[in-house]
Amino acid sequence: MRAYFGRRYAVSASHRLHTEALTTEENRAAYGKCNNAHGHGHNYFVEVLVGGAVDPETGMVVDLVALDRTVGERILQRFDHANLNLDPQFTDRVPTTENFCQTIFDLLCDALPAGELEYVRVEETENNFFECSAQPVS
Ligand code: NI
Repeated sequence: MRAYFGRRYAVSASHRLHTEALTTEENRAAYGKCNNAHGHGHNYFVEVLVGGAVDPETGMVVDLVALDRTVGERILQRFDHANLNLDPQFTDRVPTTENFCQTIFDLLCDALPAGELEYVRVEETENNFFECSAQPVS
């Protein structure tokens, strides 16, 4: 039987939604006030869901301390209180929360101490959330 463990992390970061592929007017039309030259911040919540077998010895899908260490090293140290636009991941990609969510998934999926990464969910505001999984786009 497959079991799941989910954990939630707070990440505060700033971004500006802007792409060189569009003109000034097109950027403004696409991103609205999120295109503001000075950027803006979000208090994101990042949810990570790990699935797998329950280890018969520990009774756990994944060790929470080990998961926290991985997320801390790979995600929190890198992105918390950072300007996402300055991260190498976003040199050529707009730091929308869709792209941020996918980046977090990619950075974690091969690094988990146990189990498999089922999905990453990022809450951007109380009304917006984004989610990605390994499922191919159909
Ligand atoms: Ni934003």
